[in-house]
Amino acid sequence: MKTRITELLGIEYPIICGGMFQVGRAELAAAVSEAGGLGTITSKTQVTPEGLRKEIRKVKSLTKKPFSVNLNLFPSTTATPNEEFIEVLVEEGVRIVETSGRSPENLMTQLKDGGIKVLHKVAGVKYAVSAERMGVDAVIVVGNETGGHPGMSDVGTLVMLPRVVDAVNIPVIGGGGFADGRGLVSALALGAEGVVMGTRFMATKEAPIHDNVKNWMVHADETKTIVVQRNIGSASRVALNEVSKEVDRLEKEGATLEQLLPLITGQRSKHVYFEGEIDGGIWSCGQSVGLAKEVLSVQELILQMVTEAKRSFNSIQQRIHQTLPI
Ligand SMILES: Cc1cc2nc3c(=O)[nH]c(=O)nc-3n(C[C@H](O)[C@H](O)[C@H](O)COP(=O)(O)O)c2cc1C
Repeated sequence: MKTRITELLGIEYPIICGGMFQVGRAELAAAVSEAGGLGTITSKTQVTPEGLRKEIRKVKSLTKKPFSVNLNLFPSTTATPNEEFIEVLVEEGVRIVETSGRSPENLMTQLKDGGIKVLHKVAGVKYAVSAERMGVDAVIVVGNETGGHPGMSDVGTLVMLPRVVDAVNIPVIGGGGFADGRGLVSALALGAEGVVMGTRFMATKEAPIHDNVKNWMVHADETKTIVVQRNIGSASRVALNEVSKEVDRLEKEGATLEQLLPLITGQRSKHVYFEGEIDGGIWSCGQSVGLAKEVLSVQELILQMVTEAKRSFNSIQQRIHQTLPI
């Protein structure tokens, strides 16, 4: 499977595991890269530049294939040392970063001087256009179905993705709702050169999270997520649980950031991921949870996706030939 993205990144399949705070650690990232996709570790999870260096070295010990590091540019209550993180990336020979949350403009010179390819994630056409203007190598666009931050516009991937494809010349990676081979073919049909997935990769054997979370996911359907944090301008699609319902209720009553913080803090999501308390806090989860029906190894998932994509493509060709005189 060759696209401008597989060529740009030096990977076999146009399947990327996006950065996932707390979840995107070395074992998952390495497994995705080893299986022919692009795995990503999240710098913010590692807190310090030296923590990040250790995690990068762990990935390098598990795979020789390309991987990326997510730089989190979202506003945060704790400072994120992104310039120092980039120094570590350059020293460790990391070649790809995924940026998200805010424009990477003030980091572009440092990243480009370090020989790093930049995939910038956006949730709107105008942000994709400005990212292209500032020199990113590819843009990732996520629609409303996505786990994590879908932006504030409520536009689904089916419309958002081709709108961005039409608006820029650099390669576009689509995200939000993709979980299988049919999704991959549909993304390619919409003009994307690859897909980014987060939610589906959580329900894999290598995802370093508690089995309770994976089991919850394979039994949940596509209605079991909710968008919260609109009031504070940071919409987030998360799993529907006791805490997210409470956040939703408080927001409808006009709660402020200070009132919401004890519930939405990332510290609480650790109880979910590592102790398996499904109602321990809010945790990112996309609508594609409804498509995750079993916990597979990353290798199985990627092979299944590629096989299904080919089958799906052939079936489309057959159906078109049967009905159209071409
Ligand atoms: C648990 C989880 C944590 C995430 N954390 C981040 C993050 O820290 N930074 C980021 O850019 N995207 C984050 N995302 C978004 C993913 O990188 C990816 O863009 C998204 O999951 C794709 O949509 P999908 O969930 O429908 O597969 C997260 C997603 C999930 C499910």
